[in-house]
Amino acid sequence: MPLTRRRFLAASTALAALPRAALATGQTRITAAPTKQQLAPGGYAATDVWAFNGKVPGEVLRYRQGDTLDVRLINGLQTQDTTIHWHGLRLPNAMDGVPDLTQAPVAPGKVFDYRFTLNDAGTFWYHPHANSLEQISRGLAGVLVVEEPQAPEVDDDRVLVLDDWRMADDAVIHPSFGAWHDMSHAGRLGNYITVNATPEHRQTVHPGARLRLRLVNTATARIFDLRFRGLAAWVVAHDAMPLDRPQRVERLALAPAQRTDLIVDITAEAGDEAALASVERDGTFALASFPVSGAAQGSRAAPAALPPNEMPAIDVNDARQVPLVMEGGAMRGLPDGGSYEGKQMDMRALAEAGQFWAFNGQVGMAETPMLEAFEGETIRVPITNNTAFPHAMHLHGMHFREVLKGGFGPWRDTILVAPNETREVVFNAHNPGDWMFHCHMPSHQMSGMMNWIRVS
Ligand code: C2O
Ligand code: CU
Repeated sequence: MPLTRRRFLAASTALAALPRAALATGQTRITAAPTKQQLAPGGYAATDVWAFNGKVPGEVLRYRQGDTLDVRLINGLQTQDTTIHWHGLRLPNAMDGVPDLTQAPVAPGKVFDYRFTLNDAGTFWYHPHANSLEQISRGLAGVLVVEEPQAPEVDDDRVLVLDDWRMADDAVIHPSFGAWHDMSHAGRLGNYITVNATPEHRQTVHPGARLRLRLVNTATARIFDLRFRGLAAWVVAHDAMPLDRPQRVERLALAPAQRTDLIVDITAEAGDEAALASVERDGTFALASFPVSGAAQGSRAAPAALPPNEMPAIDVNDARQVPLVMEGGAMRGLPDGGSYEGKQMDMRALAEAGQFWAFNGQVGMAETPMLEAFEGETIRVPITNNTAFPHAMHLHGMHFREVLKGGFGPWRDTILVAPNETREVVFNAHNPGDWMFHCHMPSHQMSGMMNWIRVS
């Protein structure tokens, strides 16, 4: 029996709300280890997963802005090294969790202590940066929430982790990691989508209720195309960073690793159902449904902006331009070959080494960074996608903004670049260290689409 999900608009029963995690105090121990969890609907067996502290997704770590994160990672995976990367955090380089670049990989049975100040409020996530495709695909991902001292007034604050699993029909995670077809095409797309590891999030709400929804895409390849029904939605933050003004939206794209904080007002009436839905090839499906019942909440003014995080100055006129051209993959290939592990190789030799993509002719990590910036320098990077696939480009340690005609886009740490498109980003290299700059579709990352920059 194939795994299927409930279609958008279909009726249903049952509801369950996830409990909110308490604020973390003292050292938190996080063990990455294999376990079993019921992911597929009842009737299927539990799935063998890899999880942080026995749960997929890992528990939500909640802190207040200005707190110190203090986490001991324990590697309980029997067969692989691991690390934790704190995605989107502007942290000291040594805490960034990139094996061989910022720390030694953590061997099975070993531990590593992460300790740093949480200067920014917002929605972040954590995941391994070792053998990322397999480790994230098997379930190693969790959300980190840093609360604003003055959080907006809402009736509920929810984390919704969107994920995409490639399952065999017996609800076993398909072991096709590193399949060359995925690497050279759109990545490891799955066949089973979950929200907080369930087929659908369901939560009863009052008419007029105001919710904060923290959407996090932990999938390794799927770009979600989201729609709303029975609710008014405003984006208040992307990738943890507040917008100057909340933006009313009717739809929303969420690429791998991206987060969007929404404030939504339920407009559906008692007896109806509001929903967040995902448009997919074979239909539109509810990811989260909000049956409406009870007495109406009075209507409210549109939501205000979140308190801003402290962001560095961007001086575009004084910026150095460092173009990045993405090439490779199925359909287009690497006609001029590329430099891989210090050797110039042709496309065929690269493919035999499982490498399909290049940034500026460089395939994968190089001895020297693609950019050396001095601390505080402003850098513009026009990212040109000459491949036939979209890519979600992520910079570690610093946020960037897109350069638009007559202004800037929102602060982000991950930007989706469509085929044949150039998107120019600009950032202030304010954080010293060695930082990865890579596609956040690990199938692509591991087959050429990763490089690094040095800020000193
Ligand atoms: Cu989410 Cu290189 O990371
Ligand atoms: Cu990619």
